[in-house]
Amino acid sequence: MYDVEEIRAQFPILSREINGVPLVYLDNGASAQKPQVVIDAINRGYAQEYSNVHRGLHTLSTISTERYEGTRDVVRKFLNAASAEEIILNTGTTEGINMVAYGWAMPRMEPGDEIVLSIMEHHANIVPWHFLRERQGVVIKWVDVDANGDLDPQAVIDAIGPKTKLVAVTHMSNVLGTVVDVKAICDGARARGVPVLVDGSQAAVHMPVDVQAIGCDFYAITGHKLYGPSGAGAIYVRSERMAEMRPFMGGGDMIDRVTRDTVTYNEPPMRFEAGTPSIVSTIGMGVALDWMMGVGMDDIAAHERHLRNRAIERFKGLNWLNVQGNSAGKGAIFSLTIEGGAHAHDISTVLDKKGIAVRAGTHCAMPLMDHLGVGATCRASFGLYNTEAEVDRLVDALELCHELFG
Ligand code: ALA
Repeated sequence: MYDVEEIRAQFPILSREINGVPLVYLDNGASAQKPQVVIDAINRGYAQEYSNVHRGLHTLSTISTERYEGTRDVVRKFLNAASAEEIILNTGTTEGINMVAYGWAMPRMEPGDEIVLSIMEHHANIVPWHFLRERQGVVIKWVDVDANGDLDPQAVIDAIGPKTKLVAVTHMSNVLGTVVDVKAICDGARARGVPVLVDGSQAAVHMPVDVQAIGCDFYAITGHKLYGPSGAGAIYVRSERMAEMRPFMGGGDMIDRVTRDTVTYNEPPMRFEAGTPSIVSTIGMGVALDWMMGVGMDDIAAHERHLRNRAIERFKGLNWLNVQGNSAGKGAIFSLTIEGGAHAHDISTVLDKKGIAVRAGTHCAMPLMDHLGVGATCRASFGLYNTEAEVDRLVDALELCHELFG
């Protein structure tokens, strides 16, 4: 039985007030709040157990290393990867995707080679590919979404041509909440011999993920959206792709031997983890993922479906409210505009006065906003601790915005 009040009680920040009223935190798409168990792990990590990892033989280094490496196995379990050696720990999805761009794609892409992207990618899954376009003449092929904000997997597969070297696609849009059938895309791409990178930044927060069932080659996640600390993340890299990838950053820990004239590298995944990592944040991410699995990913998904349905139901009564993206299977992420031209920044300021935190702007997804023909939206993105009463508080505050600006 999913007890949202019991879950909320584990998040200290949720009991605070903003502008004299209880906080309604609906900016989970940008970053999620942290449960006490994660805060305690960070505190313990610095107060009792801190040391560098992989370097010392002393007790504290052994404890830190065990806890840090423990996260690798938690991520393996969270994504159902076949082996912890397919998990590279890093600072988040942005680093993960850049690592693939520099380490895997750059050495094997010639001028005129193509990469297929959907129009609803986050800039983290666009700009690294623009680097390849600018620097080595790679061509980006875009696949649009339909009027509901759905991405047809067949359209992505059909965009693959003889020069396509990679498909890079989000599993869930951070603007529309659309869930992409990444398994169908991977099946089609594999039949054409093309690897697929999946940006799991949003999806992994809201649903169970099984990288073996999906059949992807790369799957990137970020800890701060997963109720863990910022500065920690991970990327699953299928072992065949890992063997093809060259190191992205050089430094300590990723080497085997360094001489004046030569360098040889550590085995993967360590080969891709140069320098002192975000030790305590990574340990905290492991605790967060463990905690989420304890709550139950299916139960989290079911709870958020209720919230989504409640929001859709309530929004239907507001004929002056535009909701971007109407995909049947969408998650509880709503990008909103109010007819009459109220700016998203003004709406979010009024919502903040009512204690409601949302994101306003273009959500690091400018090509999608251009495609939708909207300058900026106000985004309410729900998480596992939100309630139906909070949906109602959002609707009340939007009604006030309509009165003020509509
Ligand atoms: N990627 C985060 C968002 O969508 C920052 O808001």
